[in-house]
Amino acid sequence: MIEVVKSYQDGKKIFRLKNEKISVDVSNFGGTILSIIVKDKEGKQQDVVLGYDHLEDYAHYDGYLGALVGRVANRIAKGTFTLNDKTYQLAINNGPNCLHGGVKGFSYRVFDDEIKNDQLILHYFSPDGEEHFPGNLDLYATYTLDEDALVINYHATSDQDTLINITNHSYFNLNGCPSSIDNHTLQVQAQYFACSDEDGLVTGALRDVDHTPFDFREEKTIGSQIHRDDEQLTIGHGYDHPFIFDSETNQVKLYSPLTGIELTVSTTLPQAQLYSANYLDGRLGKNGKPMNARDALAIETQYMPDSIHKERNSKTILRKGEVYDETTSYRFKVRS
Ligand code: BGC
Repeated sequence: MIEVVKSYQDGKKIFRLKNEKISVDVSNFGGTILSIIVKDKEGKQQDVVLGYDHLEDYAHYDGYLGALVGRVANRIAKGTFTLNDKTYQLAINNGPNCLHGGVKGFSYRVFDDEIKNDQLILHYFSPDGEEHFPGNLDLYATYTLDEDALVINYHATSDQDTLINITNHSYFNLNGCPSSIDNHTLQVQAQYFACSDEDGLVTGALRDVDHTPFDFREEKTIGSQIHRDDEQLTIGHGYDHPFIFDSETNQVKLYSPLTGIELTVSTTLPQAQLYSANYLDGRLGKNGKPMNARDALAIETQYMPDSIHKERNSKTILRKGEVYDETTSYRFKVRS
């Protein structure tokens, strides 16, 4: 069932997608996931994503809590790129680079909405030149519940060649409130991760996870790894790195022994930025509770950041007439 639970005068809305197993609040403001409520091992309801009490806070703060991020998630080196012999200059909004689509990326836009066949379809038309990207781009983000899973499909087309890299930036804490994720266990099907520089930009180097604190091929607690002495962990202030997937389904599993809740992320995308919320600064979130660094894990499925500079035949180029079509699901279970 999907219903509108709140409408604002400026066109913003909050929708609730709900079945017996899961209840998800989503706003057409930035396609933002406001809450995901599932039952824990005692049958108690837990909200497993960080966020704010008021929708205005999502417009006011950075951090991209729960937001859909685009047109190009993550960093583009020096905010510039060349496509079809034309050079584009984007906003520099994160050190020397462009982050998360520029000053007013998709996370800060109001989407059109439609409820159809038990799906919430959010649509955003991004005009040619918006945030200095070429091409009129139509993005459809479709949110569906599939039993105990939230499934998001992204579908985009453009009337000119352009760049695209969409993600969702939910901060998961399966304890049910902002609190250290040291107790969570993590499993990631990734033999390699991408190294980053001091500004969080990928360097282009991939590193084998073997014998590093990035090796989550077998399930481990985050707390047993994140405090280890490692140059990349120091540079990132924790995890803030792309993990390159070896498998095509169920690539990431996160589990809290406290609540028994397990999240499995499955995606058509080739990697995810795992970000241990290193820059959360004690700002107040839901129920007035402070949100601090390492109080959550964001699992941002996406293509390689800065792919336009780092990869040949970048998959982040969306050609005129082609379709960008990617799906990520978030499945919640209680471990017995
Ligand atoms: C980036 C972080 C950044 C965070 C919030 C993540 O995707 O990798 O470095 O601080 O988003 O903007």
